[in-house]
Amino acid sequence: MVTRALDVVVLGAPGAGKGTQAKRLAKEFNLFHVATGDLLREEVAKGSELGQQAARFMQRGELVPDELVAQMLVGRLHSQRGMAGCVFDGYPRTQAQAELLDGLLAELGRRVDVAVYLEVSDDEIVSRLGGRRTCPRCGAVFHVRTQPPAQEGLCDVCGTALVVRDDDREDIVRQRLAVYRSHTEPLLQLYAGRGVLRRISGEGSPEQVFGRLAEAVRGGRGH
Ligand code: AP5
Repeated sequence: MVTRALDVVVLGAPGAGKGTQAKRLAKEFNLFHVATGDLLREEVAKGSELGQQAARFMQRGELVPDELVAQMLVGRLHSQRGMAGCVFDGYPRTQAQAELLDGLLAELGRRVDVAVYLEVSDDEIVSRLGGRRTCPRCGAVFHVRTQPPAQEGLCDVCGTALVVRDDDREDIVRQRLAVYRSHTEPLLQLYAGRGVLRRISGEGSPEQVFGRLAEAVRGGRGH
């Protein structure tokens, strides 16, 4: 029997835990993890033309223009032909991106099977982003209180000194939240209208959140 691919979109405000949960989901369901924020930061670190253009928007907490993100995404998705599916983390963020994703998946004979929304209060978001530490080398994510590294300030995976992301400054976080509310939150209605949206609480321990998320994805798989 051929198993149909599974494509999952993870939605949520900045700091809701999309990256933390999407990595686990990819492992559990054998999916390819597509995180546009991570891909853009890689381009910025490489100093590519695309990275230089994207950095100007990212530093201000604005969305990178749809065409630039699309350039990066198309190649990645086509390299995944025949895979078990993808978990999209931080994509789509606009109506145009949602349409592009539908088109790309349709070319592969696939569709968004489940869109999971991680609901987290603003107070919790501020606390999560205020304590986040990231590895600039491998992208691993920690939190000074809730997920501290074994050795203070050093990445558990590769030993590199951890940093605070430039866009985790309080004023930029406020801007990212505003952009999220105006451009990305409306996508909840889009996916609800198709009957694929699952809302779950993103609060509690990462393990508790993952339990809810995995259940929602299993439940939505048969859609
Ligand atoms: P991106 O990197 O995607 O940022 P974001 O959406 O703002 O999300 P974050 O990475 O900040 O948070 P997250 O939800 O992944 O939370 P995390 O798991 O790290 O994008 C950055 C920028 O790139 C954008 O502003 C934009 O400029 C650009 N960009 C990206 N994609 C784009 C697109 N498609 N179009 C246009 N522009 C785009 O968790 C946060 C912290 O909380 C961590 O410290 C973690 O350890 C902790 N934590 C996680 N879960 C829990 C829990 N259950 N309990 C306690 N702590 C927890």
